[in-house]
Amino acid sequence: MINYTEKIPNNVDLGRDRVLQRALEHWQPAFLGWWFDMGPTESRSYDVYLRTAVSVEPDGWAQFGYVKMPEYRWGIFLQPRDEQRQVNFGTHKGQPAWQEVPGEYRSILRRIIVTQGDTEPASVEQQKMLGLSCPSLYDLRNIFQVNVEEGRHLWAMVYLLHRYFGRDGREEAEALLERRSGDTDNPRILGAFNEPTPDWLAFYMFTFFTDRDGKFQLCALAESGFDPLARTCRFMLTEEAHHMFVGETGVTRIIQRTCEVMKESKVDDPLDVRALGVIDLQTIQKYLNFHYSVTLDLYGSDVSSNAANYFTSGLKGRFEETKLSDDHQLAEAAYPVSEVVGDKIITKQVPALTALNERLRDDYIREIESGISRWQRVIDKVGIPLRLTLPHKGFHRAIGNFAGHFISPDGEVLTKEAWKNHESEWLPSPKDHAFVQSLMSGRVTEPGKFANWIAPPARGINNQPLNFEYVRFN
Ligand SMILES: [Fe+2]
Ligand SMILES: [Fe+2]
Repeated sequence: MINYTEKIPNNVDLGRDRVLQRALEHWQPAFLGWWFDMGPTESRSYDVYLRTAVSVEPDGWAQFGYVKMPEYRWGIFLQPRDEQRQVNFGTHKGQPAWQEVPGEYRSILRRIIVTQGDTEPASVEQQKMLGLSCPSLYDLRNIFQVNVEEGRHLWAMVYLLHRYFGRDGREEAEALLERRSGDTDNPRILGAFNEPTPDWLAFYMFTFFTDRDGKFQLCALAESGFDPLARTCRFMLTEEAHHMFVGETGVTRIIQRTCEVMKESKVDDPLDVRALGVIDLQTIQKYLNFHYSVTLDLYGSDVSSNAANYFTSGLKGRFEETKLSDDHQLAEAAYPVSEVVGDKIITKQVPALTALNERLRDDYIREIESGISRWQRVIDKVGIPLRLTLPHKGFHRAIGNFAGHFISPDGEVLTKEAWKNHESEWLPSPKDHAFVQSLMSGRVTEPGKFANWIAPPARGINNQPLNFEYVRFN
């Protein structure tokens, strides 16, 4: 169980390490200052029906109740230690998992933790304003749940920095509260986390696509030979699952509502669909294209010596590393990557060790594909002849082999001009954004009511009815 009698709830016996405890208690007010500044707007006094982790065991770790978000019990929860655990890949394979940072890997490990940690507050910043245009109390509660858990993920990474990296760890922990999403002078580290999340369609797309990148990164780090990182990430994954649920069901409900209206009113022209106050499927496709392509960049370069290093040194594994049946060292293996040669996209084999980013990206794409087919089923069910498609991997990319090229959603290599001529058919234009935002000009706060552009969910949170008062505004 988690000890809630302490100022910082934890299951790492924080009370026995006074120096660490004091350092974290010093960081805590800075974190709260950041939350007041950059957390959800105007939410300070709301009572929100949130789940809080009470145990790290798979069963019953969550407890539901009304909480004011600044009083949420952010804490430090690691999956229990397995004494037998080993480093499961790379050159140290078979050695006992590290309980302290190996000196030679100190700086790359710190970099990995900081890069992961930076995404957590970034998404809270990106979503800051959305509470003001929520489509229901149910959805408002869900975004707040995501926000407090991203805050906790920040705590999880900051614990590692404070506990294992001394002074430079403490400095990095402070810098995590200083960078700001989208800031020109001091932005967040990764591109997708500096993009605005201007409306609820973008929010659901973000939690479907980008939180799922989070899942895959956490899965790779959960394999780490550095045991405290692995155990931290394992627990974070239980929270991540809810974020992806919010995204997937959010988009499903928008599609469902649009399809209902199209069917009822017998319209299919996007302008007619829009006139009925719902989001046309073409715009949904454009948002999908945007969030997918921007998220693919988060996996980094297709061929990467850093990725090879992380793996060889036992710090970052592959997705489900221990379930894979190979040598876990990739001495001889090859892996296909794509590149643009002239006006063609070709595939070539490269040493698998250097293609680990690409491999993780491919694992991610497989999971995305099945999500898209679940969205498609909603459309098929009402008999609307429209297919949602995933654009080609090279579409709208800024990092890796496709960066600097102009690839159509079908995978055609275009000139810049030709691409620009079609851009507004493929990606949301300022007009599309303005339209979506016009539907979301105010918030829906009556229990059980939903905005016109989204269907109610199949069921409430924690078996509560849909008209439950998920947020009390006081
Ligand atoms: Fe997170
Ligand atoms: Fe998340």
